[in-house]
Amino acid sequence: MIIYKEESYEKMSERAAEIIASQLMMNEYSILGLATGSTPVGTYKKLIEMNKAGKISFKNVKTVNLDEYHGLGPDHPCSYRFFMNDNLFNHVDIDKKNTNVPDGLASDGEAECKRYDEVIKSLGRADIQILGIGENGHIAFNEPSDHFSVGTHIENLTQSTMDANKRFFEDGEKVPNSAFTMGIGGIMNAKCIILLANGEKKAKAVKDSITGKVTPQVPASVLQLHPNVIVIGDKDAMKFL
Ligand code: PGA
Repeated sequence: MIIYKEESYEKMSERAAEIIASQLMMNEYSILGLATGSTPVGTYKKLIEMNKAGKISFKNVKTVNLDEYHGLGPDHPCSYRFFMNDNLFNHVDIDKKNTNVPDGLASDGEAECKRYDEVIKSLGRADIQILGIGENGHIAFNEPSDHFSVGTHIENLTQSTMDANKRFFEDGEKVPNSAFTMGIGGIMNAKCIILLANGEKKAKAVKDSITGKVTPQVPASVLQLHPNVIVIGDKDAMKFL
């Protein structure tokens, strides 16, 4: 595990973007695993800048996202498909046909999980998987549990996750209480994982994940078993390390 403690959110984002850009320079056909949430927004901004400056191209890149709210479609401003279009895909030279997010509106949830696992399988191992971390140690929407789940599944969100994500929704609008999420197995299949964390609220989850025991009660602790993890955090998130 490589750990970078950066001075600021800006520096964290720069570091992550440089690593991802280097991957794209080495292989224009890279497979990227992408995450949503406020944490990676700065990284995406830097990648957009580099793309506009002609330093990197997404023309042949394929992407696979971690998760999507159950019940939200691509036009809903809080859906993760909308987020990805808005924060990255609409601003770079990627072919949207090469981007994948679970279908939040799928009427047959189980079939959608199967379909998404097939997508993940057909793409092959992601060269880099980007991850944020929840205050409760979740990765993607894999919440604390008594087991690590392998495949894509529908997860019931914990109250703490719904509370944390309330800020993205309009006043009075309910945060969906379940989501499609890639399983821990899908995440761990990536060749390299970049875990991003910023802000003091994440400090305990980061410490428990990196220095605590490996347990499904702290889903991100499973990353200790992965041979190629890069943790990049700002100094607030990394204050206990
Ligand atoms: P955040 O979410 O980036 O909005 O803090 C991260 C997560 O819950 O995985």
